Amino acid sequence: MRRVLLVGFMGSGKSTVGPLLAGAMSWRFEDFDSHVERSEGRSIPDIFREDGEPYFRKVEGEAATSLLALDEVVLASGGGWAAVPGRLRAVPDGTVSIWLRVTPEVALARAGGGTDRPVLDHPDRLGRARELLSTRTVSYAEADLEVDTDGRTPEDVCESILALIRASSEHIRG
Ligand code: S3P
Repeated sequence: MRRVLLVGFMGSGKSTVGPLLAGAMSWRFEDFDSHVERSEGRSIPDIFREDGEPYFRKVEGEAATSLLALDEVVLASGGGWAAVPGRLRAVPDGTVSIWLRVTPEVALARAGGGTDRPVLDHPDRLGRARELLSTRTVSYAEADLEVDTDGRTPEDVCESILALIRASSEHIRG
C-alpha cells in the first residue's frame, strides 16, 4: 500500500478525516479540490460559473492523475470524481480506496446551505442529493473498503479506517 484514496459523497468527511488519517500514518495529505483551486487560481464555484462543469471535470481529472502518482499520501477526492463507473478499478497499483458512506440527510447537514457546492445548487437540495447519491452509489461501491460515517466523529471514523487497513493488510499477508 503506497497511498490511501478517500471517496464518497459531499459531506462524507473526506477532507476532515483525511488530514487526521495522514497524521496517524505520518503521511502527507492532499485534496483534489484544493489542488484544482490552486492550479486554476479560483474557487470551484467560480470555475463552474465561468467555464461550466465539463471544464471542471477535465481539470479535476488532471489533478487526480498527478496526485495518484504520489507515494505515502492520503488523498481526498471530490465527491464527483469517483462517481464515474470503473474509475476506482483503474487507479494505480498500491492505492487503497475507502468509501466514506453518508446518508443524504447527514451529508446536507454537514455541507450546510451555502453556495460552495454548485452541484447541489437546486431548489430541492435534499431531492437533488438523494438523486445524485443513488446514481453514484454503484461507483463508490467499487472502493476496496467502506466505512459508515453518520453520527460519528472524524476521530472515530479515522480509527475505523486504521483498523480496516490493518485487517486488510494482515489478510493480504495471510
Ligand atoms: C462535487 C463535490 C465537491 C467538488 C465539486 C463537485 C460533486 O467536492 O469537487 O463541488 O460533484 O460531488 P466535495 O465532495 O469535497 O464537496
